[in-house]
Amino acid sequence: MIEGYEQAAVGAEERLAAAADLDAVSGVERELLGRRSLFADAKRRLADLAPGDRAEAGRRLNEARARVETAAAGARERLAAADRDDRHAAERLDLTERLPHTVPLSRGRLHPVTQARDRLEDVFVGMGYTVAEGPEVETAWYNFEALNIPDWHPARGSFDTIFVNLGEPEEVMLRSHTSPVQIRVMEKRKPPVYIVAPGRTFRTDTADATHLPAFNQIEGLAVDRNITMGDLAGTIDEFVRAFFGREVKSRLRPSYFPFTEPSAEFDISRPDGSWLELGGCGMVHPNVLSNCGIDPEEWQGFAFGFGIDRLAVMRHEIDDIREFVNSDTRFLRQF
Ligand code: PHE
Repeated sequence: MIEGYEQAAVGAEERLAAAADLDAVSGVERELLGRRSLFADAKRRLADLAPGDRAEAGRRLNEARARVETAAAGARERLAAADRDDRHAAERLDLTERLPHTVPLSRGRLHPVTQARDRLEDVFVGMGYTVAEGPEVETAWYNFEALNIPDWHPARGSFDTIFVNLGEPEEVMLRSHTSPVQIRVMEKRKPPVYIVAPGRTFRTDTADATHLPAFNQIEGLAVDRNITMGDLAGTIDEFVRAFFGREVKSRLRPSYFPFTEPSAEFDISRPDGSWLELGGCGMVHPNVLSNCGIDPEEWQGFAFGFGIDRLAVMRHEIDDIREFVNSDTRFLRQF
């Protein structure tokens, strides 16, 4: 009788080793180990044996039972591990995976002011200029003094400067224009110099439809021998046509800046025939050249500066310059 159970145990071990799922394991357990199973039946039948044979038969029966139990536990373990592996495989994220074409990709884009800045750089690079940069926090020397604006000069008031509480009062400030980059470039490089310097500038303006307290300018500086006002006018005309289109004209109007002499403001023509002010320009003042160690008898230069945000506003016919800083993606998506 016992041999039969032992054989059943071996068969059960084989089935458990091959079990493909937990149901199969439970099936074997029910059949051999449960309340109405083969072994439960065997245990009851031990009573029929001769008392001298019972202990031996009981021991072998328990052994066979233990083997089945061990095999069942092993099968459960194996299936659980496989299940874990499957789950991990299913949940694995492939970060290099490409989405199928059916999912529309939403690509970002450059901010319209950045696009304008890039295009401006391209236009001037095409005219032989290089791009220069300077710090956004400046000293009075670079923002004013070296640009021929001493501390008593009324022009200081017109810049609505934001000062920084570092050191002497009114000595450190957020640059109120990109003109300090002229000084930084001329201090380091000897002429001929042809640079443009785009960057952020700051004034105490309250934001409204045409002003932002943090805005962007681009500065241009050319220093060479025999440079004239005609070169300045020609350069501005060339840039305006390259940026806005061949049909757009430019003109200069007399104006005043302490760092240029003579000075002018420049306008561009609108389709309706009216003129729109774009920026300031002029011949670099001899004092500015001297302040940078450049001999004004030997070298002349012209400089210009204008707002990039304003330019983008004009180009795209935007009603309110504040749109540029609202971060409304519905607005920004249009460019
Ligand atoms: N820096 C002047 C401004 O911000 C513009 C300018 C630049 C004028 C260069 C002349 C020459 O108003």
